[in-house]
Amino acid sequence: MTLQNTSGTAPVSLDLVIFGGAGDLSVRKLLPALYMAHLHGNLPQGARIHPVGRQAFSREAFLAFIQEKVVPFIEPKAFDAQVWQDFLARLNYAAVDVTQEAAYATLAGALNAGSDRVFYLATAPSLFTGICAHLSTAGLIDARSRVVLEKPLGHDLASAQEINRVVGNTFEESRIFRIDHYLGKETVQNLMVLRFGNTIFEPLWRGPAIRSVQITVAESVGVGSRAGFYDGTGALRDMLQNHLLQLLCIVAMEPPVSLDPDAVRDEKLKVLRSLRPMGVAEVARDTVRGQYTAGAVQGESVAGYLQEDSVPADSVTETFVAVKAYINNWRWANVPFFLRTGKRMQERRSEIVIEFADLPFSLFADAPRKSVNRLVIQLQPEESIQLQMMAKEPGSGMRLQPVSLNLDLESAFTGRRAEAYERLLMDVIRGRLTHFMRRDELEAAWTWVEPIIEGWKVLNERPKAYTAGTWGPAASSALMAREDSAWMEEA
Ligand code: BG6
Repeated sequence: MTLQNTSGTAPVSLDLVIFGGAGDLSVRKLLPALYMAHLHGNLPQGARIHPVGRQAFSREAFLAFIQEKVVPFIEPKAFDAQVWQDFLARLNYAAVDVTQEAAYATLAGALNAGSDRVFYLATAPSLFTGICAHLSTAGLIDARSRVVLEKPLGHDLASAQEINRVVGNTFEESRIFRIDHYLGKETVQNLMVLRFGNTIFEPLWRGPAIRSVQITVAESVGVGSRAGFYDGTGALRDMLQNHLLQLLCIVAMEPPVSLDPDAVRDEKLKVLRSLRPMGVAEVARDTVRGQYTAGAVQGESVAGYLQEDSVPADSVTETFVAVKAYINNWRWANVPFFLRTGKRMQERRSEIVIEFADLPFSLFADAPRKSVNRLVIQLQPEESIQLQMMAKEPGSGMRLQPVSLNLDLESAFTGRRAEAYERLLMDVIRGRLTHFMRRDELEAAWTWVEPIIEGWKVLNERPKAYTAGTWGPAASSALMAREDSAWMEEA
């Protein structure tokens, strides 16, 4: 396969430059994803990959480094020593101090003249300004060049706007790929098809036919070695502002007029702008912050957050957040959207639960009036879609039992499922923007989240403790109970 340039004419070569190329994300996600794309023949023939880092690796030393660090993140059955060697031949490490203008000459020397260029910024966002300016001064950017921005995209609205402004000085919006890897997950993309490729759900896809929506992204891992970053960030900024709000957008958006990137992003933007703003009273009532204490996860004792390496002993950073949100529009008025995410929870589970309305009255003596009808879209650890229904238990009498209709995607489609990063990297290479966030979307998400952060400051309370290996603080269940709902595992 050869890459076509944007005018679709002559094949051109591709240079993919990864700033932060020896960093955690590159090692755990990007290079394994690129290996997989290479293995499956999806990387353009002339594509070369240039990890850029401060470490003074020679090419050989870098290859040895990634042999040790990257291979463990490749599925063993997908690893082939010969293919790996061919993949390494595409790699060319550049030891560059990205803050030094003069250093960009090294990079310039490594890139092919006239190549299509993708610059992946997987560094701290404080470096984005300098990198863009230096790339531009060194003449490394042309109208075809693309930039990929890795989160965190800002700490608040002002810093997100500043990133957008600075990057926008160098790259046109249509060349900026703001990545949210949740948008690359198979089930998330499938949700669009479930909603807009079928007719049966659409008439019911609104309040009051839907009584509530739950979105959970639970992780069993703790903060690990990332405390330096995480303690200044917390669950709201790290997960809810981006991943959970993007999931909410896909659940709640109106049908777009086409799959054109802007058509899809216009609809997501409308959802974000319709989120009911929260004042301090709503923040106190409708949000829950938590922090894990020592406990056990899957049978193993684990430390509390305050005992983790590099976490200050008096840290008030939240490792769990739950929020009740409302969308102020005709479709969703008065339908609560419960969002929660946390580290060191009972298990790794990400799911969206659409809870349908209760029965108007109960005809069957032993059947609850409360609805059992739920559409459960599980993203992780397994991908599945289930519709929960009430059915009659065989035998005399009218005994009712909930049962599930399972959409068995795994056996219906036996083909390979690419990881989110691989899918999104291929989108970048092919110039497809649909699954990336637009500038105004990012800013609208911050506009809604910022008053929550401000409200927490005013309230000045410590996060509520929850034992590692549980589903979060009790206040999270109470948040649901007040709406006569319950999280999936308690329902
Ligand atoms: C990242 C967060 O964006 O997403 C991490 O920074 C988190 O803290 C990760 O662990 C979760 O991603 P996934 O795909 O493993 O659910």
